[in-house]
Amino acid sequence: MERFYYEQPGPDRAADAIAFIREFYEYASEINGVGGLHRYLDDYPGWLKKLAEDYVREPSEEKVPARTYFLVRESDGRILGMSNIRLALNAKLREYGGNIGYCIRPTERGKGYNKINLYQALKVCDQYEIAEVLLDANLDNPASWKTMEALGGERIGEHFDAVFDHAMLVDYRIDVKKALAEHSEYEQLVLSPR
Ligand SMILES: CC(C)(COP(=O)(O)OP(=O)(O)OC[C@H]1O[C@@H](n2cnc3c(N)ncnc32)[C@H](O)[C@@H]1OP(=O)(O)O)[C@@H](O)C(=O)NCCC(=O)NCCS
Repeated sequence: MERFYYEQPGPDRAADAIAFIREFYEYASEINGVGGLHRYLDDYPGWLKKLAEDYVREPSEEKVPARTYFLVRESDGRILGMSNIRLALNAKLREYGGNIGYCIRPTERGKGYNKINLYQALKVCDQYEIAEVLLDANLDNPASWKTMEALGGERIGEHFDAVFDHAMLVDYRIDVKKALAEHSEYEQLVLSPR
């Protein structure tokens, strides 16, 4: 059985991380949940430094503490996706983004990997005693909101995002402990974070 784990980005992953982001450009894909990596393609060490700062930030209206992970497949060590987990929310994140942003690289989509990605992100939230997460997705991005629904996401509304995407967003809430308990089938697929 194929298994997956979260990996904290480190210096040895520079080439893999850059190739990961290049694939999104190659396929003209949206990029989400990468902790700003696409802005640091020529400064990977600078990105690692930014992640270290994200780790210990005091929550403010500008920034919140966050964790960023690679989702990795055990058999070949390939980076399949990423997640960016915001441990607190400010007004901006309540309007757009919520607690968790994620993505799967274009060549690995449609295999259920983002559901594994969200399951692991919820485990991280549980570890930080976050009882409930808020998420949103573009209404015309069913792969994203279906991921949320597959992990127990409850659709709580829709709103027009006039600031960032200029699009209709669907808003979701997930009860973290309930989702983990009701979707324990994912537990056999995941290994401890590295
Ligand atoms: C959204 C994204 C992460 C989905 O990744 P993925 O690995 O392909 O998703 P999964 O294979 O785990 O599928 C999740 C659900 O979406 C459905 N789905 C997948 N691709 C789909 C598509 N193209 N259209 C409709 N539904 C789709 C799956 O069937 C599954 O639902 P189900 O459990 O009800 O069957 C990926 O498309 C991506 O990275 N997009 C760019 C970044 C982005 O949009 N991030 C989210 C921003 S809110």
